[in-house]
Amino acid sequence: MLKPDAVKRRLTGIILSRFEQRGFKLVAAKTMIISDELAKTHYGEHEGKPFFDDLISYITSGPVFAMVLEGDDVISLVRKMVGATNPKEADVGTIRGDYAIDTGRNIVHASDSQESAEREIKLFFDESEFCDYNLPDEDIIYE
Ligand code: RTP
Ligand code: MG
Repeated sequence: MLKPDAVKRRLTGIILSRFEQRGFKLVAAKTMIISDELAKTHYGEHEGKPFFDDLISYITSGPVFAMVLEGDDVISLVRKMVGATNPKEADVGTIRGDYAIDTGRNIVHASDSQESAEREIKLFFDESEFCDYNLPDEDIIYE
């Protein structure tokens, strides 16, 4: 999910391009403004932490670009592409390392496990929003 700072900074296309160029398949996507309730459910694991209120304000402060990508090891590979939570510690070449400076403005969210991906996808998307198709170059990308 591209956070409001990414969308407002017109980085949606450039970040989506990175995932496309890697070879992942985009199966659902939309721009939306997250409600307070959805934000609190999505980031429920952080409730009670000192940064929680700021995180909810940040993520609801403008439109996000939510998407679902498919591919081999997509969850761990996307987390690597996103980089460390604190952009100051994120490697150059990662999304946060290239486009962000502050932890509280780290421009992108990525599910951190199969379980969180399944939970988060259900929060953001209905079944009808998924596209079932084949990538024509799949046998070039995969061995
Ligand atoms: P995300 O969930 O957004 O993909 O980020 P993450 O897994 O890398 O990091 P996580 O620990 O899940 O934290 C969620 C988001 O909360 C904000 N945060 N602020 N000020 C702080 O110490 C702090 N720690 C976390 C960040 O926006 C982080 O992405
Ligand atoms: Mg997280």
